[in-house]
Amino acid sequence: MTPAASCILGIETSCDETAAAVVVDGATVLSSVVSSQVDLHARFGGVVPEIASRAHVELLTPVVARAMVEAGIAGDDVDAVAATVGPGLVGSLLVGVSAAKALALVWDVPFVAVNHLEAHFYASFIEDPGLEPPLVVLLVSGGHTLLVHFEDHGRYTVLGATVDDAAGEAFDKVARYLGLGYPGGPAIEAQSLLGDPKAVDFPRAMLAQGYDFSFSGLKTAVINHVRTHPDISTPDVAASFQEAVVDVLVAKARRAGRDIGAKGMCLAGGVAANSLLRERFLDACVEEGLRAFLPSRSLCTDNAAMVAANGWWRLRQDGPSALDTGADPSLGLVR
Ligand code: KG4
Ligand code: ZN
Repeated sequence: MTPAASCILGIETSCDETAAAVVVDGATVLSSVVSSQVDLHARFGGVVPEIASRAHVELLTPVVARAMVEAGIAGDDVDAVAATVGPGLVGSLLVGVSAAKALALVWDVPFVAVNHLEAHFYASFIEDPGLEPPLVVLLVSGGHTLLVHFEDHGRYTVLGATVDDAAGEAFDKVARYLGLGYPGGPAIEAQSLLGDPKAVDFPRAMLAQGYDFSFSGLKTAVINHVRTHPDISTPDVAASFQEAVVDVLVAKARRAGRDIGAKGMCLAGGVAANSLLRERFLDACVEEGLRAFLPSRSLCTDNAAMVAANGWWRLRQDGPSALDTGADPSLGLVR
């Protein structure tokens, strides 16, 4: 084990957020800068990989510079540079990974390769460094829906995953169908506030079966319902859809927490910014007598503070990563 480096510069470019952050000891966030490309992609209804990687090239240098200025540090103060190496869009990942390696070489400090999925867990550790495993983590993002048994740092068992669409993907696709724009999650949430969640009883797929999820049938059910009920109000559809997604996510997380005898349950990933999910997840934890960890919304969606925090833990555990570590667009959680 190498001695802990304290001041980590984190870099995140796996999808459409260009982000850099400075975090001390895996928990104290000195700065966290996120430049969203959402306006560039919105007119295409989703992320266009080529546009994303070109935008990262333009944005990364100013974003890193701002993170350093806001943190009040210079290159000499950085003890390691951590970057997301996967999973994600390969062109986007390469921009962040190359920049991180170059900075690590120039400053003569370790480079730390970070798994984006694992990094999402570390949003909880930033806000509650005393978090004690075993934990159940519900990771719900645009690309992934995972129910994970977090046994200890670096030791996970994937209990369940989506067999088709990720939860965030379902939000994005349904929002696009309803003409609510991109990204869909916040748009559906806003519409839901005006609608009746009991208006349509959408299917809760695989509710009682194991820990896997399926959201593709729900998306089709929404489309079919709107086609056959053209006068239905969009807020009612949005609220009923959101209710169905949250019902399934919370039911499975609660069952997993009970089954593995977890001490607590964490939410992670962009969909964890959803207010209804947060409220129901918290209620379930209270009812089960488990501690609940809900990272603040800005730490749920993609950011580099979680990458820097995860980098600090990884450096303590595994030491520096080799400089020939490549970007891996399909990197899984369990190595
Ligand atoms: O973790 P994230 O920022 O990026 C990925 O790693 O995928 O997650 C993005 C996803 C998108 O699908 C977005 O629609 C969803 O998170 N999202 C939400 C909310 N905010 C973001 N979904 C539901 N409700 C929200 N408030
Ligand atoms: Zn993410």
